[in-house]
Order: sequence, then structure tokens, then C-alpha cells
Amino acid sequence: MTQHVFDSTMSDRLAVVTGATAGIGYAVVKELVGHGCSVIANGRRPDRLKDLVLEFSNESVQTVRGDTSDEKIVEAMFDAARDRFGDGRSEADLVVVNAGRGLKGSVVDSDTAQWEEMIRTNLLGAALVIRHAARRMLANLERLGSRGKTWRDHPHDIVVIGSTVGRNVSPFSSMYGSTKFGVHGLVEGARRELGPKGVRVTLIEPGFVVSEFQGVAGYNPEWFKGVVDRIGPVLEPADVVRALMAAITQPPWVHFNDIALRPTRQDYP
Ligand SMILES: NC(=O)c1ccc[n+]([C@@H]2O[C@H](COP(=O)([O-])OP(=O)(O)OC[C@H]3O[C@@H](n4cnc5c(N)ncnc54)[C@H](OP(=O)(O)O)[C@@H]3O)[C@@H](O)[C@H]2O)c1
Repeated sequence: MTQHVFDSTMSDRLAVVTGATAGIGYAVVKELVGHGCSVIANGRRPDRLKDLVLEFSNESVQTVRGDTSDEKIVEAMFDAARDRFGDGRSEADLVVVNAGRGLKGSVVDSDTAQWEEMIRTNLLGAALVIRHAARRMLANLERLGSRGKTWRDHPHDIVVIGSTVGRNVSPFSSMYGSTKFGVHGLVEGARRELGPKGVRVTLIEPGFVVSEFQGVAGYNPEWFKGVVDRIGPVLEPADVVRALMAAITQPPWVHFNDIALRPTRQDYP
């Protein structure tokens, strides 16, 4: 039997990371650049995007500003990856679908004025990014084929940040949780569709991670402090990044398709 050999070096990988101006997305960019990847980083805040380029240089990071629920922005991210780093031909082979936001409260008491934006970002935006990532990656794989190579010669990853509240129903964050339940369904559908073609679609489900998430969601700081006192230390973005790296550095024929990680003392959700 022939043994397929895989070189797990990351420097030939071309990444798109959404929601890269803070928290988990920023930590992903930092790690990928450290491994020599070229990265298209997205977010809406221009000052933060400028800081990213200053920190990492535009030889490794280019930015595309805008809302991931806008299809033109999504197209622009993938075009930028191809045109800036892929010699106008190769498409992104690593896409991290991370942009998202939380919302304090349940279906009964959360702020209805924020429902639409959250659903657009967390669910529709994620769906658009998965859709375009998949199309571009399938084109990449076809091109590999025309050079006598296969999906086993180069990994293609779509990694989506879900949540423990996308699997365990929480009555206290049921509106946010419902967007993540939707995302988990999308990811599993995409995995079944794309896995057989050589694209890994991976779900990462973190529990509590300290980031800007808590402020954006509108959590009461005293309440969150109580959570940290009870179950902490809670996760840091870098903890999520280690899980992501474990998945994407596997050989292309090995798929860690679903990774849940929590602070050790988080029992629920
Ligand atoms: N923190 C947690 O406890 C936790 C737990 C489980 C899962 N998650 C998930 O992890 C992901 C990242 O969260 P985080 O903790 O890193 O939060 P964060 O620190 O608030 O970062 C969120 C990032 O998403 C960007 N973003 C938000 N809406 C966007 C949009 N419509 N278009 C483009 N970018 C957008 C934000 O940047 P701009 O404001 O500049 O656009 C920011 O860069 C989210 O999907 C979240 O649901 C978080």
C-alpha cells in the first residue's frame, strides 16, 4: 500500500478571516501570520484594520472592510485573496467564518431592535461566506487536478466558529443560541456536501471566551464577573486558536470536523 506523504507547513496557505478586528478573529490572524500564511482580514472598523496592517505588514495581511452579510464584500474578500496573494489564479484555501455577535437575553426579553442585525451577521453572513468559500475552493481543486494533483496534496478548510449554545439550548440566550443552532446545521450540511470533494468543513464550538463579545452582547459586567468567579478562568481567544490549528494542520485526509472546548469548570451550556 502506498503511504501518502503530507508536509504540514502552513506558509503556502492563503487565508480569509472574517471578524478579524478583535477577539478570536484577531488571534487567528496573528497565529496564521506567525506560520507564514498570507491573510485577508475582514471587519467593519477601519481604525482596527489599519492597526492590523501596521502590526503585520501588508506583505502578509491585506484587509477588506465591510459587513459579511453583504455579498459584494464577501466577493471582494475572495477576489483580494486571489489577486493579491494567489497570483490572480489560486483562491483562498483556508477560510475562517468567525464574524459574529451575541445578544443578552432570551426570546422573551432580548432587544428586538437587534434581532435582525444579529441574524444577518451570524446566520446569513456565515452562509454567504461558506457559499463563496466553497465555490472558490472547488475551482482550486479543479485546477490542482489539471496539474495532475488531487485534494490529498493540499488541504482546503472552511472553519466556522459556532458555540456551545448552538448545541445546548439555553433559555437565557435563546435568540443568540438560535443563530448558532442554524450555523451548526449549515456546517454539517456543507460538510456532507463538500467533504466528499476534498474540502473540510469544520465546526468549532467554544464555551465562554473573554473578548469584546460580552460588551457587544450587552452583558452586565457584574453578571459576567460572577460567571468568571464561578467557572473561571474562562477561555482566551488563543485557546480557541489552538483548537483551530489542531484541525487545519492535519493531513488533508484527516478531518477533526467538530471540536467543542469549554473552560474546564463550565458545566453548561
Ligand atoms: N466570546 C465568546 O464567549 C464566544 C463563545 C462562543 C462563540 N463565539 C463566537 O466567536 C466569534 C467571534 O467572537 P469574539 O468572541 O471574538 O467576539 P468579538 O471580540 O466581539 O469579535 C467579533 C468580531 O466580529 C466582527 N464583526 C461583527 N459583526 C460583523 C459583521 N457584520 N461583518 C464583519 N465583521 C463583523 C467584529 O469587528 P467589527 O466590529 O470591526 O466589524 C470583531 O472583529 C463569533 O461568531 C461568536 O459568536 C464567541
